[in-house]
Amino acid sequence: MRRSFFLSPNMERIIAGARPMSTVSRNARGISGLALCAAVLAWGCTAGPAAPAGGPPAGPPAARGGPTGAELRTRARSTPLVVAHRGDSAALPENTVPAFRSAIERRADLVELDFHETRDGVLVCVHDETLDRTTDAEQALGRKEAKVSEASVEEVAGLDAGRWKDPRFAGTRIPTLEEALRAIAPGAIAMVEHKRGGAGKLVELLRRLDLVERVLVQSFDWPWLEELRGLEPRVAVAALGGKELTEERLRELERTGACMVHWDARALRLEDFARLHRLGYLVAVYTIDDEISFLGAFVAGADAVTTNRPGELRALLDAGTLRSARP
Ligand code: G3P
Ligand code: CA
Repeated sequence: MRRSFFLSPNMERIIAGARPMSTVSRNARGISGLALCAAVLAWGCTAGPAAPAGGPPAGPPAARGGPTGAELRTRARSTPLVVAHRGDSAALPENTVPAFRSAIERRADLVELDFHETRDGVLVCVHDETLDRTTDAEQALGRKEAKVSEASVEEVAGLDAGRWKDPRFAGTRIPTLEEALRAIAPGAIAMVEHKRGGAGKLVELLRRLDLVERVLVQSFDWPWLEELRGLEPRVAVAALGGKELTEERLRELERTGACMVHWDARALRLEDFARLHRLGYLVAVYTIDDEISFLGAFVAGADAVTTNRPGELRALLDAGTLRSARP
């Protein structure tokens, strides 16, 4: 059983009186406060010896990811990794250098960011395909719904990416991916999410910055991950998903070469944690911001928790609150 040393005596008693797994797995989906006890049961009942994935393995997931994968596995043994979603994004404008720096100050293990490619081929940190939600692009570029892929890097760099969040952040800029990685790398592992942009371009950048083995690259586009690892097998990758984790998806997952599965917490069943752990994957869940869900993710056995509030999650972990919530 994983992390049994974290269980409070009360939780151990709950496991001792566990209902049959079938009852739990039929009724419990996602993570919530109400699912907490079911999480303990599912986790306790389904952990077991390793089982094959089904597809031809590219190497066991537990051995993948090079130095980054090894470091994540080591650090996740004691408490789940804190992943700052788009930086410290509840407090600061998402996907900006101040948000990344703040996440590091709050001791996030990983700082997540998104990238797109500009018209002139530069990778820049922004989440949406269009610039309207988080910048003054409509006013600055004189048109609505301008896409990142239609703008030059000069145009993107000139936008205000802070005022939408709060007037006190006016003047905050969209960083290039290079600027973002330079800001994150000294203090945390960058979790680099591909939204749009060439795999070759990313590999070139990571090699130039000597960060090939110091980042975790993720995408919902699994063929893109395969392409990336075809170009640079040393890079650690995480496969993003948000739908039911079927056997077919597990076989597709194997082809990505991922060391981590990063899944929408609302779509992940409690029994999926044990399934994925048996196959050797690290399991990360997104995006959780409330304390009850932090606790649920912890007890369910998540190796990493992606949150817009990294400081709050870190404080709870530091205080030991997530281990001993029950009296
Ligand atoms: O890191 C997981 C999460 O970032 C994926 O969703 O839309 O926030 O990029 P999204
Ligand atoms: Ca993202």
